[in-house]
Amino acid sequence: MSRVSIHNLVSGLREIPDEQFVCDNVYDFLSSHPVDTDTINPYVFWSSKFYTRNLIYKDERFEMMAICWERGQVSRVHNHAEQRCWMTVPIGRLKGQNFAVESIDESKGYCKLIETDSFELAECLAAKVELEEPIHQILNLAEFEERAVSIHIYSKPFDTCVSYCRDTDTFKTVNLCYTSVDGKLCDGIML
Ligand code: SIN
Repeated sequence: MSRVSIHNLVSGLREIPDEQFVCDNVYDFLSSHPVDTDTINPYVFWSSKFYTRNLIYKDERFEMMAICWERGQVSRVHNHAEQRCWMTVPIGRLKGQNFAVESIDESKGYCKLIETDSFELAECLAAKVELEEPIHQILNLAEFEERAVSIHIYSKPFDTCVSYCRDTDTFKTVNLCYTSVDGKLCDGIML
């Protein structure tokens, strides 16, 4: 399958009419348009302290980010603020672990999760976060022995989500921030 530049991927997504910007269509579009990894380079920033979130494009309907994962880095267990999400992994390999709520008491900030299914992504394979089971974690396992870069599409864009702590069975809303925007490091970010 021929590869497309990251900018053509954005243009292609922008051309999808609103009513068709739904789970399967965007997933099919991503699956059939593997990205040319060289074109992601301006958005690739590495940090040994945290995985980096690098904004490529944002409008009212969706945002696209390149997320760079050093070997062993993992996301929090989190949801996506009830927004649709898709991802593809052009560089390296990542594991996604989904969770279901076993019991919850919102008044006490208590939530017990159980692991459900998991998946692995590499070589531009695409995945979508199911709205019915939105809690998940993304992991670049040390055993994968390489860095990874994933492309994420969130519709609509969101800047907070719920983060779950499995040690204490608690949850809280957290702010999300970008490491870079349009290929430039954000103010105050120390890699
Ligand atoms: C993030 O957006 O910070 C984590 C990646 C994801 O779960 O999609």
